[in-house]
Amino acid sequence: MTATVRRLTAEEIDTDGFLALLGEAAGLDTDALIRIRDVEFPTMTVVGTVDGSVLGFAAFGADTHGEDRTELHYIAVAHEARGTGLGSRLVDAARRADTTRPLYASTDDDAVDFYRRLGFVVADAPRDPRWPTRQRYDCLLDPLGEPAELTLDAYRAHARRYAQRTPATPSPLVAELAARLPVGSCVLELGSGPGRDADALEAAGFAVDRTDAAASFVAMQHDAGHRARLLDVRDADFGGPYDGVFASAVLLHVERPRLGGVLSRARMATRPGGVMIASFKKGDGEHWSDAKLEVPRHFVLWREDALADAFATAGWTDVEVWDSSSPHAAEAWITVTARNGSRD
Ligand SMILES: C[S@@+](CC[C@H](N)C(=O)[O-])C[C@H]1O[C@@H](n2cnc3c(N)ncnc32)[C@H](O)[C@@H]1O
Repeated sequence: MTATVRRLTAEEIDTDGFLALLGEAAGLDTDALIRIRDVEFPTMTVVGTVDGSVLGFAAFGADTHGEDRTELHYIAVAHEARGTGLGSRLVDAARRADTTRPLYASTDDDAVDFYRRLGFVVADAPRDPRWPTRQRYDCLLDPLGEPAELTLDAYRAHARRYAQRTPATPSPLVAELAARLPVGSCVLELGSGPGRDADALEAAGFAVDRTDAAASFVAMQHDAGHRARLLDVRDADFGGPYDGVFASAVLLHVERPRLGGVLSRARMATRPGGVMIASFKKGDGEHWSDAKLEVPRHFVLWREDALADAFATAGWTDVEVWDSSSPHAAEAWITVTARNGSRD
């Protein structure tokens, strides 16, 4: 079972098959199910897996008891998809929708062992008037933690896999930076990863300070005979001054409210007249993706206007923002270049 877990559309939810699945989750009559679908679901997030029909779904959202936690309100897996791990993937999707809050579910004897196996702490709960004869249980799972930290954990654990699955050809950002800085300039690279762009910049005559917050990537660069150091863009002083700051596909992991601080510190680390270049994934909102590493990484998507504002607010001048997507790529990208026009 590899079909992705994603948000279900209104059309997918509005099918007889879906209502039958909801019936298995809720154990209520058709009128009650239709009320849940039409009144409760619009206030919740409903994710699931579709392969012809909906094979499983989870509906979650605000906690109905007023607690500061996500509540998993309904979850069901079709008979043909049982034993495939889909149930645990649905719970994981609910947990990842807000990794900073605990996940809560109320259940009965039929499903309590499912929650126990996933690590929920289980406690007896008062009976529910909707199912007066059934023993109920409260199930609680700890929050996962900050998305950016979990993403970094994925890189720490899978640096080699990332290196093997990333083309050796340098990013187009290398040529863009080279067109804006004289040969011999000193460049700070944020999130160097395996170092393909640093290699290309050095081959073009630049001096590169290779950095990454994942010790596994720093070690990989040491093994290849390079100097490299640990630097977490979220809170480090970047040092300097440098002639340029290079960040290819790195700042897309920084939580939106923290990007401004990162850009300010990057500017303070850049000489007057120096240049920054960075790339971001284009779109709205944020999401988790298993692509490439097969473990979830968190991405914050950006639009051109918002990035132009963020760079300008951080004091950068001559900000240029453009759609740098490859013609046939599935994902859209944005590149930003900016100059430190200040005299401080
Ligand atoms: C998508 S990879 C890009 C790697 C490299 N720039 C490239 O283009 O191949 C993201 C990189 O950012 C690093 N990274 C993630 N969070 C970071 C953080 N908070 N501070 C510094 N580096 C970070 C990861 O370890 C990883 O090397």
